[in-house]
Amino acid sequence: MADLQIKNLHMHFSGVVALNGVSFDVKEGEIFSLIGPNGSGKSTLFNCVNGFNKPQDGSIFFGGENLLKKQPHQILNKGISRTFQNIQNVPYMTILDNILLGAHHRIDNKSTMKRLFTKEQRFVEESMGLEILDFLGIVNYEQKYMIGQPYGIQKLTEIARALIGKPKLVLMDEPAAGMNDQETQEIAKIITEIRDDLGITVLVVEHDMSLVMSISDRICVLDSGNILAIGEPEEVKNHPDVIKAFLGDSADA
Ligand SMILES: Nc1ncnc2c1ncn2[C@@H]1O[C@H](COP(=O)(O)OP(=O)(O)OP(=O)(O)O)[C@@H](O)[C@H]1O
Ligand SMILES: [Mg+2]
Repeated sequence: MADLQIKNLHMHFSGVVALNGVSFDVKEGEIFSLIGPNGSGKSTLFNCVNGFNKPQDGSIFFGGENLLKKQPHQILNKGISRTFQNIQNVPYMTILDNILLGAHHRIDNKSTMKRLFTKEQRFVEESMGLEILDFLGIVNYEQKYMIGQPYGIQKLTEIARALIGKPKLVLMDEPAAGMNDQETQEIAKIITEIRDDLGITVLVVEHDMSLVMSISDRICVLDSGNILAIGEPEEVKNHPDVIKAFLGDSADA
């Protein structure tokens, strides 16, 4: 089973404690949300899972393999991709080429140059890109340049790049940030379809509580690097410590 198992994770940056003994499991096939106030350690946890940060203590296993012994590209090869809180698109490339940046690790590991020069390889890659664009409902955008595209399209491109490598687990850092209500609903639908139709486990960080409550199987609440609560949406929503520290009035949403 490709479960993600995080145990007793400690990560500090000099004197700043970002994660203070965080433990939880994400089961294969779950939509699992990580929530908490600004600076509570959510993105740091993502960075630990995908290998950008090396925690001082604790363990992270995925499908039985120790991720802390691996580099970010090896973790991607094991089937964990991610999106970023701050969009990481390349402005002067087409949307399709931006998406294909996420495919390079899996298509033809042994002959990178071949990919650049053969039409066949390009065709295979483009077909995969178009499939994902179709899945996300933006198939007419493939030849448009990234620069100047609406924010919603930029966010979808970021998601498409994470999906094209056919990951087993995708980490999504604030996919609905900056989106209007309609776009947020569209993101909720897409996340559900990523799990239901593509069979990908989703670990998502989000501040939009109605989105989190509507899509999550389970939710983990972080506060200053500590876990306040883990459980199903109703349990978490009604947890007194959570209401006090984070949800406030929006717990009734
Ligand atoms: N590379 C770094 N160097 C120093 N401090 C860092 C670094 N990365 C994160 N931190 C600190 O660790 C703490 C947790 O940050 P993190 O970005 O994980 O929070 P977050 O929960 O993702 O917040 P937000 O909701 O604002 O994105 C913060 O105090 C932050 O300033
Ligand atoms: Mg963050």
